[in-house]
Parts: sequence; C-alpha cells; structure tokens
Amino acid sequence: MSSPSLETRALTVRFGGHVAVNAVSCAFRPGELTAIVGPNGAGKTTWFNLISGQIAASSGQVMLGGRDITRLGVAARTHAGIGRAFQLTNLFPALTVLENVRLVVQARRGAGLSLLTMAASRRDLTAEAEDILDRVRLSSQAHQLVRALPHGDQRKLEVALLLALRPRIYMFDEPTAGMSVDEAPVILGLIAEIKADPAATVLLVEHKMDVIRALADRIVVLHNGTLVADGNPAEVMASDIVQEAYMGREIEDV
Ligand SMILES: Nc1ncnc2c1ncn2[C@@H]1O[C@H](COP(=O)(O)OP(=O)(O)OP(=O)(O)O)[C@@H](O)[C@H]1O
Ligand SMILES: [Mg+2]
Repeated sequence: MSSPSLETRALTVRFGGHVAVNAVSCAFRPGELTAIVGPNGAGKTTWFNLISGQIAASSGQVMLGGRDITRLGVAARTHAGIGRAFQLTNLFPALTVLENVRLVVQARRGAGLSLLTMAASRRDLTAEAEDILDRVRLSSQAHQLVRALPHGDQRKLEVALLLALRPRIYMFDEPTAGMSVDEAPVILGLIAEIKADPAATVLLVEHKMDVIRALADRIVVLHNGTLVADGNPAEVMASDIVQEAYMGREIEDV
C-alpha cells in the first residue's frame, strides 16, 4: 500500500464548548476516492475546513505527504497541493470564465515567462483553459463574466478551476448540491475521471447514496464530530452504526 498523501492526526476543533471535530485520525492515499458521510451537523465540512486551512485546529495535525501543514494558511496549503473546490469560486467575479481558468493555469505553471516566450505561452495557457472548459461543458459560457453565471455553471467552474490547479488532493463538499438532474452527471463524470488518475487523492462529502455507490472506494463516517466507521463501502453501509445514523436514531455507546 502506498504511503498516505494526506493525514489528519487527532484533529480537533472546539467552538466554545462544542467539539465540532473530535480527535479525528484518518489517512488518505493516492488513487483512492473516500466518501465522507454522516448526518447534518456531523462535522464533515468543518473537518474539510481544518484540512484546507479555512479554520485553525484547536489541537492535532494535518500532514500532507508527510509534511506538517497544520500552521499554514489557505493559500500556502493550496500551493502545497490541497485542492478545495469551493474556495476557488469567484476568484475574479468581474473577469470572464475563460480568464479565471487561464489565471489558475498560469499560477500553476508559475512565473518565469520571458518576453520572448510570452506570446506563445499565452496561446498555450488559453488552449489549456479552453480544453478544461470543454471538459466541464462550459465552452459556451467562456466569455461570460463569472458573476453573471447561473448556479449550476458556477459549480462547473469550481471543478474547472480545480482541474486547472491539478492539486494532489481533490476535496469536494456536496459538489452537485443545487444542480439540475441533467447537470449533475457532468460533475460526477469529471470526478470519476479524476479518480482514475492514480496520483490523485479524492475526498468527497456526499449525502446521495447513488453517488457514493458509484464512486467511493472507501467510506468514512463522522457522527457528532467523531470518526465512527471507516472501511470498504459494502461493509460500512451494512454496519449498524451507519444504518442508525441514517435512520436518525440515537447511537448508543459511541
Ligand atoms: N464557525 C463555527 N462556529 C460555531 N459552530 C460551528 C462553526 N462551524 C460549524 N459549527 C458547528 O459545528 C458542527 C458541525 O458542522 P458542519 O457544518 O461541519 O457539519 P456537516 O457535517 O458539514 O453538516 P451538513 O451535512 O449539514 O453539511 C455543527 O454543530 C455546526 O453548527
Ligand atoms: Mg457540510
């Protein structure tokens, strides 16, 4: 088994007296898509926020490829390879869809463009950005201002920006929420493509069971901020703890 690309170690955050994420230890590996499930308020999004750096941990660690990134801010974590879909939305709402994607491609490729190579590189950046928009079915909106995009297209743009970033860790928090039935399959198809990359580590918070069944290699269950189950989908779905959590009944002895 490959070594973990991402790991949280006893990761904890308290909001006042409430422990929203409680000593969660979990390791993720490249080539694996992990679905993160649990009832509303279980701490899934908060765990994501701790991993991507939106909020600071009360205690515990976040390790990326063996490096402790717990004290890094959001931008430094993104640079290190943490790719969180939503934080990239509306990067530049007054620029077009294509310009936004091109900026992320450019940022990824880094500085060092000489004046001589600039023109050719510009074409190159545009070509890559156009290719990404094609993959997310946003080509027809390429010249729209981001702030004018309908909701479903904004969600597609989030995935486009993530593809442009080529992170080591892909994090999706209910990526098809609010999307129409004909738009959602585009996003799910792209997540399936990303998952096919053996170098990609994918974390997917999802409530929809059909999506989990289709994509997950592994399921982690959070309940009241605590990791209560972790294993292959068939086992976890059949476990009492998941059955009870999803039935909304009290879980005893957890
Ligand atoms: N910034 C905050 N300040 C105070 N409490 C917070 C904050 N963020 C989250 N919480 C609380 O932490 C708990 C976990 O919330 P979180 O949003 O992580 O749940 P979730 O599992 O993502 O739920 P959902 O499935 O509804 O998205 C909730 O009780 C929530 O009210
Ligand atoms: Mg949430």
